[in-house]
Amino acid sequence: MSMITVKNLSAGYGFVNVLRDISLDITAGEIVAVLGSNGVGKTTLNNTLSGLIKPKSGEVLFEGKSIVGASPETIVDLGMIHVPEGRKLFPNLSVRDNLELGSYRRGKSDRAANLEDVLDTFPKLRDRINQIAGTLSGGEQQMVAIGRGLMSNPKLLILDEPSLGLSPLLVEQMFDLIKRINEKGLTILLVEQNVIQSLAIADRAYVIEEGAIAISGNAADLQDNSELKKSYLGL
Ligand SMILES: Nc1ncnc2c1ncn2[C@@H]1O[C@H](COP(=O)(O)OP(=O)(O)OP(=O)(O)O)[C@@H](O)[C@H]1O
Ligand SMILES: [Mg+2]
Repeated sequence: MSMITVKNLSAGYGFVNVLRDISLDITAGEIVAVLGSNGVGKTTLNNTLSGLIKPKSGEVLFEGKSIVGASPETIVDLGMIHVPEGRKLFPNLSVRDNLELGSYRRGKSDRAANLEDVLDTFPKLRDRINQIAGTLSGGEQQMVAIGRGLMSNPKLLILDEPSLGLSPLLVEQMFDLIKRINEKGLTILLVEQNVIQSLAIADRAYVIEEGAIAISGNAADLQDNSELKKSYLGL
């Protein structure tokens, strides 16, 4: 079953076009990576799918239903949950409050059970449940941001550069966690600059260059793609 289908999507800011003719699809259960360097339009894509930016043209179907022009709130209600770049926590609220805010619009009746699940997934957060979020380490803050997304019973979880700013060891742990969450059945759109580690956990990937999809395919095949190796891995 198709979770999301994007057809010929173009989007940007004012007269500036950032995304050109993007087509991609994600099937339920997959991890799909969208890869690209700084400024190619990854966050613009996430914000367009989430309804924060209106596309200039193209179609977005979520579980077969068009969501172009729908509000961000409606899109959240449908189950597309976006964990934004840079975490965007409420720094003066506790870990518990930040997590519980994740179920403000969706998942409210499952709040207690989902909180237990999130604390099982991220045991570190259980010890820090009453700590003020702004005083957590970067890795812990990323766990809260993902946990907040999980609190809303997502059907599709969009992660915008979850490895940004983490130490190499934490990056590895973060990718392992993302894979584990996917193995429990959650469909994930993973937007990343970290090509090697993303391809290691993804089923399929799309590479964006200058706002358009330049390369796409099975993650396993892309790991051996010479063009990709040359451009992104310096090999
Ligand atoms: N609100 C905005 N108004 C005008 N231009 C913007 C706005 N947000 C982003 N842009 C521009 O759109 C282009 C794509 O930005 P975007 O944030 O989508 O890139 P990205 O791939 O997420 O980059 P990074 O990896 O650094 O997060 C950039 O040239 C950026 O300057
Ligand atoms: Mg970005």
